[in-house]
Amino acid sequence: SQSDIGIYGLGLMGSNLALNFESHGHNVSVSNRTEGEGENLIASFMKEHGAGKRFTPSADLKEFVASIQKPRTILITITSGKPVDDFISSVLPHLDDWDTLVDCGNSHFEETRRRAASLRFKRINYAGVGISGGSEGARYGPSIMAGTTKKCWKSLEKILEPIAARSFDDTPCCLLAGSDGAGHFVKMVHNGIEYADMQILAEVYHIMRTLFKMHPSDISAKFRQWNYTSLGSYLLSISADILQVRDDSGVLLLDQILDSAEQKGTGRWTVQAASELGIQLPVVSASVDSRSLSALTGLRGRLSGSLFGPEPNSSSGLLRNTENALQHLEQAYLASRMIAAAEGFYLLTEASRHYKWTIDPSEIARIWQGGCIIRSELLRTIVAAYGQGSNFNHLLLSPIYSNRFRKLQEGWRETVTLAIKSGIHVPAMAASLQQYDALRSAYLPANLIQAQRDYFGSHGFRVINDPDGTHYHSNWNKQDLSDNTDDEPE
Ligand code: 6PG
Repeated sequence: SQSDIGIYGLGLMGSNLALNFESHGHNVSVSNRTEGEGENLIASFMKEHGAGKRFTPSADLKEFVASIQKPRTILITITSGKPVDDFISSVLPHLDDWDTLVDCGNSHFEETRRRAASLRFKRINYAGVGISGGSEGARYGPSIMAGTTKKCWKSLEKILEPIAARSFDDTPCCLLAGSDGAGHFVKMVHNGIEYADMQILAEVYHIMRTLFKMHPSDISAKFRQWNYTSLGSYLLSISADILQVRDDSGVLLLDQILDSAEQKGTGRWTVQAASELGIQLPVVSASVDSRSLSALTGLRGRLSGSLFGPEPNSSSGLLRNTENALQHLEQAYLASRMIAAAEGFYLLTEASRHYKWTIDPSEIARIWQGGCIIRSELLRTIVAAYGQGSNFNHLLLSPIYSNRFRKLQEGWRETVTLAIKSGIHVPAMAASLQQYDALRSAYLPANLIQAQRDYFGSHGFRVINDPDGTHYHSNWNKQDLSDNTDDEPE
């Protein structure tokens, strides 16, 4: 019999999604390009997983398409960018009116918007679907963020919902975020928060190891202990594991890994997309920058012995009580993550308005509670905050959220100060604290910036008494400043 789904791309993600669908009772057609690295993928997939399973393999695109029931649903699980465009142009001639193509990769949301628009004219449904959870998630239940038309979603939802993870309230982690690029936008922001969560945790580890001189197994134990509290998260639990894995000779594997982080681009895209909307994402930006900085191994190596400053290893004098400092660090860890999440959710809300999507932040928080990389206890708090009525666009406007910072204050500030005094790089924690302080400042010194702009470029400025009114201009350098001596400094 014909398959009800086709999956094109049998990398780890595609294979695991195929297995997930099959285990939910679907007949699945599978295919992959057969050139280069894809040469034996179909054969090896069938050899490993084919026996007794409802898979129909085909190396020929026409045959692959013909093996799927009409109207067809074809999931694309290949590298984002040009390969997706290439696949679309080669599969198009074989498709019929209103077949559906579903891009499950980490495509840029603008590309998804472009593809959706051009395929609509060709009478093809297009969905951009962000899928999070790594290979495990794809196999046993990912978090799914879709962007497509409501009509297309009606049929797609029936296929995607059953294979998705479940949230804390047992609902499926699967939603329609809006039209065209909405799903990929939400997935991109998920990844931005993922970058921030990972960086903040790396900073916590760095302080524990370098300053508190904790043994990796003690750090692991501390992470496991935290994992039972409101700090609990998937990333914390895998980091506890990582801190225990040793190679055959008994050496900690982590200690053999080069300290140069790679990135495929979704973190940077998040910052760029926010910047396009005039929104700053200090914690995500700091985390993206930290990855780029980490890659400067040569420069860091050369400067490490020559630039003057405190040595983290000799800063233990600053540390009076490790137990107390650990409690402070715990507070700093949670507070920083809360600011990172708040900036991500703010971006989602503003982008949804701008692009006319239908992103409901409380729904996003719900579907991120299961399956995805940033699943955590914190998302419960965010669901609760939105549950009180989402009539706000920034989580810090929710008392459930903002009140938590009272207790976290001292530890957050102490930790960042201690790290800075000790010469330890904590860009994400510092950026989050700075953002918090900026947001609670009714006054920021931008009046001087406006004055400077007007002084050198006559750009004008608005005045306090008439904030929405006209722009004024002053002839700054025409004033006689010589007799200002009676203006005593305050
Ligand atoms: C997920 C992840 C995944 C991402 C990797 C690598 O949600 O399953 O976000 O989609 O590709 O985490 O991303 P970087 O190479 O940019 O770190």
